[in-house]
Amino acid sequence: MINLVENSRFYLIFVFVLALEFNYLCNHVEGKAFFVFGDSLVDNGNNNYLATTARADAPPYGIDFPTHRPTGRFSNGLNIPDIISEKMGWEPTIPYLSRELSGQKLLVGANFASAGVGVLNDTGIQFVNIIRIYEQLNFFRQYQQRLMREIGATEAKKLVNESLVLMTLGGNDFVNNYFLVPYSIRSQQYSIQDYVPFVISEYKKVLQRLYELGPRRVIVTGTGPLGCVPAELALHSNNGECAEQLQLAASLFNPQLVQMIDELNQDIGTDVFVAANTNQMHMDFISNPEQFGFQTSKIACCGQGPYNGLGLCTPFSNLCPNRDLYVFWDAFHPSERANRMIVDQIFGGSTTYMHPMNLSTIVTLDSRA
Ligand SMILES: *[C@@H]1O[C@H](CO)[C@@H](O)[C@H](O)[C@H]1NC(C)=O
Ligand SMILES: *[C@@H]1O[C@H](CO)[C@@H](O)[C@H](O)[C@H]1NC(C)=O
Ligand SMILES: *[C@@H]1O[C@H](CO)[C@@H](O)[C@H](O)[C@H]1NC(C)=O
Repeated sequence: MINLVENSRFYLIFVFVLALEFNYLCNHVEGKAFFVFGDSLVDNGNNNYLATTARADAPPYGIDFPTHRPTGRFSNGLNIPDIISEKMGWEPTIPYLSRELSGQKLLVGANFASAGVGVLNDTGIQFVNIIRIYEQLNFFRQYQQRLMREIGATEAKKLVNESLVLMTLGGNDFVNNYFLVPYSIRSQQYSIQDYVPFVISEYKKVLQRLYELGPRRVIVTGTGPLGCVPAELALHSNNGECAEQLQLAASLFNPQLVQMIDELNQDIGTDVFVAANTNQMHMDFISNPEQFGFQTSKIACCGQGPYNGLGLCTPFSNLCPNRDLYVFWDAFHPSERANRMIVDQIFGGSTTYMHPMNLSTIVTLDSRA
């Protein structure tokens, strides 16, 4: 009797361990690594580890996150990379500076993004201690060395070669640089018509460096409609219309980004880079919020002042009861629900939204390889 109980317990444990192993194998056969670079739109918490004011580690950030706690994500819940991971059946990307990112967790990929950064090294200097884009790329190289020690050089190279990358940059080169203050240094150097090609040419160098580091599938998002975010409605608009100069910047930036990506792909000889037209995705629900089930695209859920667009989202800010009805969570960043709609377009959007192809197409192509 005792033996039988012991035996069946052993058997159960054995089956359980087998199931774990099986699960583990499946995850690692199916799962590709995911690497994320860029700014606050995609930062999963790196800035929590830095002495900077660009952070989202206090409530009510994270109010709709599974833990209902702030994590450093600039969202009420999940952000764009989280939702891509979720839809692909992957674990969320871990911030590179987190101690959690070690051992087998390295195989998930990593998140190098840091709120406040831009394409240019002088963007976001007011945030002092942030991981600028070339530092993010250096960390990626360092990550690859750690990965090699974990799984060997050949496997590490393969993992990076087959990975997916999300790169979100550019908005801060306008909001937190050119247009940050009147008569900014950059605005004295360049007209906006000349500044955009300058940022694009620097962005091209960043993407070339990324390509040298090994990834072969890179989604590059354009800027959102910079002049329509609640912060800009509060600061640079007097009637609730999107701020003109910032909208001009976004309308110049995005087509030039597509052109630059075409050039890169032509030079490489294959479609490594894909441009996501986040500007158009956002404009859809800004021009007709009700059609997408939003109550407003002008007022932020969390904040204060006109449009809840002034200052930061803090425990003392106004907070809307239902985040799903707002396009904007805070003065700059979309709500989780808006992020979900953006990711739907990244997966299934037409060539207006995803150039030259959407993520579903990439997944299909790569599963045939
Ligand atoms: C930005 O910094 C990186 C290294 O920190 C450097 O290689 C690059 O040339 C700089 N870019 C510009 C435009 O100064
Ligand atoms: C990376 O993968 C591609 C297929 O996507 C293959 O043609 C190429 O040889 C691989 N490169 C390396 C360095 O493994
Ligand atoms: C994008 O993805 C969908 C599937 O979700 C597909 O039907 C469609 O043809 C794709 N569009 C393009 C332009 O690749």
